[in-house]
Amino acid sequence: MTLNEYLGQLDALAQEAERAFEQAQDADEVEAARVAFLGARQGRFKALQKGMGRLESAERPTAGKKLNEVKRRLEKALQQAKQRLAGAAAAPDSRPRLDPTLPGDRRSLGRLHPITQTIEELKDIMGRLGFTAAEGPEVEDEWHNFEALNIPLEHPARDPLDNFYLAAAESSGHGALLLRSQTSTVQIRVMEQTRPPVRIISLGRVYRPDTADATHYPLFHQMEGLMVDRGVTMAHLKSVLRMFATSYLGHDVHIRFRPSFFPFTEPSVEADFRWNDDWIEFGGAGMVDPNVLRAVGYDPQEVTGFAFGLGVERLCMRRHNITDIREFYRNDVRFLQQF
Ligand code: FA5
Repeated sequence: MTLNEYLGQLDALAQEAERAFEQAQDADEVEAARVAFLGARQGRFKALQKGMGRLESAERPTAGKKLNEVKRRLEKALQQAKQRLAGAAAAPDSRPRLDPTLPGDRRSLGRLHPITQTIEELKDIMGRLGFTAAEGPEVEDEWHNFEALNIPLEHPARDPLDNFYLAAAESSGHGALLLRSQTSTVQIRVMEQTRPPVRIISLGRVYRPDTADATHYPLFHQMEGLMVDRGVTMAHLKSVLRMFATSYLGHDVHIRFRPSFFPFTEPSVEADFRWNDDWIEFGGAGMVDPNVLRAVGYDPQEVTGFAFGLGVERLCMRRHNITDIREFYRNDVRFLQQF
């Protein structure tokens, strides 16, 4: 190999290496170029350095000078590549970038109140048992809240101290107006408008001037249920309530029925569930009183029915182990966020 050829090879190597360093996109590519050109063992510069031994001794000083010059060029190109990439990292590209590997940007959009969630779930469970949801007004007249439910004028349940009567005078012939104290009003509204068979539930707010404590609140929610058909018995009522309770509260829930009294059912029961070594009442129920069936134009000789009214808050409390009903209405986000 002549001296000129040798010098030419050195120049070509320098140009190729400078291009490789300039085009390197990241630290890995810079390192790969460094190993390829400047590597102490297999590097191409090293190979050319070794090749100097094949030149005439008189040619070697010129070749050595050129070798040093090329080595400096290579090292400079390496440094420039490193600085360029460090600069790019320090001043990131201001264009917005999409990194599809990052987790989503989670935003809290709020959520449904636990009682609303419970209502939806109860509708779902009862829907599977064949009960469709019906609605009724929260401002009621005395006929639907009392009279038609076999609660006559002199009955203590109508006491102004136990109800939220509205100051407004008589409604259209159906007595004074009040905030409904029970969802049983909807039973009457549905039966007034439909012929048997009937199988409905109604979920909504009811109001009573009760003093708030751990299990009472002046505003709460009830789920009313009503089934009227030929041959409906107390056994149907008990099995529907049992199926409902185990669907919502789980198969290990203990429920019991106690004899009770409601003017609009005969016989009547109260239903309790077991909770923390205690029994908590979650609803009232019974066979629809013949007087009620007659009040809506049904024939008690022909059809019978059962009805129930359950406290929605108490069911939700039992399910989630909430020991104070007031939590639902404090609007503390730390509580609400848990549902
Ligand atoms: C009634 O309201 C009847 N209408 C239930 C009924 C319907 C009986 C159909 C027969 C046929 P009672 O007043 O017991 O019954 O209330 C029913 C349920 O509502 C109670 O068991 C309880 O779970 C809930 N409840 C009653 N008062 C409150 C209150 N102040 N705060 C929270 N829940 C209450």
